[in-house]
Amino acid sequence: MMKRAADVVREAEVFVVTAGAGMGVDSGLPDFRGDRGFWHAYPAYARLGLTFTDCANPQHFSDDPALGWGFYGHRTNLYRDTVPHEGFQIIKKWLTRKGAEYFVVTSNVDGQFQKAGYADDRILEVHGSIHWLQCQTPCSRTVWGNNEAFRIDAATMRARQPLPRCPECGEVSRPNILMFGDWSWLPDRARMQENAFDRFLRAHGDRRIAVIELGAGSAIPTIRATSERIGWHLEQATVIRINPREPEIKEPHISLTCGALEGLQAIDALLE
Ligand SMILES: NC(=O)c1ccc[n+]([C@@H]2O[C@H](COP(=O)([O-])OP(=O)(O)OC[C@H]3O[C@@H](n4cnc5c(N)ncnc54)[C@H](O)[C@@H]3O)[C@@H](O)[C@H]2O)c1
Ligand SMILES: [Zn+2]
Repeated sequence: MMKRAADVVREAEVFVVTAGAGMGVDSGLPDFRGDRGFWHAYPAYARLGLTFTDCANPQHFSDDPALGWGFYGHRTNLYRDTVPHEGFQIIKKWLTRKGAEYFVVTSNVDGQFQKAGYADDRILEVHGSIHWLQCQTPCSRTVWGNNEAFRIDAATMRARQPLPRCPECGEVSRPNILMFGDWSWLPDRARMQENAFDRFLRAHGDRRIAVIELGAGSAIPTIRATSERIGWHLEQATVIRINPREPEIKEPHISLTCGALEGLQAIDALLE
């Protein structure tokens, strides 16, 4: 399998990198797999009896904004402090060496691909980004960069005052992220990225494409579905699915049962 994966990478003219929360695990970030996984990462929420779905609820920004920003402020700080693991650089090395076209599609809101030096106009963040803010109402369609500082009480996971506010109406703002039961998310930024990705596929869809999928879970299968759609519909596309716990994908696509960093290093070693 590993050798076949290396052949696909070697022969690829175009790369689509699809990534879920598992891509961040080797940088030290938690995935949220199951409530147990979430509570392991956030013991304070286990004590409060709050699941990931409970925390990722836009209602908090109006009902209890310190709780809403406790979760997202903590994650903003965490993602700002994280150094993307070497796997990000390995893929970049392949792209540069070949001068290959690429696009990244991720459900991660953590901005780690931008941080690792991938071009902003080559990234689709399907659920938005924590590094962008919007009004909770929203009073307009504006989104703006998240330059706020957050102080979170670790025991209660509540954010201290002052909380970030909408510069237009003064309401508490929220991250420009798609949450659960979310009717206020402003999708314009993601839609623009989506259009760029559609143009990319129209331009390169008939070439030899390697889809490298890293750490995408099946609970919210958006990213897995994206890889599979490309893998099944574009004749010359092959998906390499790298995932230690749920790597299954039908032949001729390739399933690697290992972590993202380990898988990328193993492929890279075969390319030398
Ligand atoms: N960093 C982030 O931005 C972040 C983190 C957690 C959740 N989320 C959000 O929550 C949802 C979660 O969905 P999801 O499928 O991305 O995550 P998930 O937590 O449901 O699944 C994570 C997947 O990563 C795999 N994994 C674990 N360790 C790995 C490793 N070392 N290398 C590679 N894979 C590994 C797991 O087997 C699992 O399939 C998404 O909608 C996303 O927006 C985002
Ligand atoms: Zn507003």
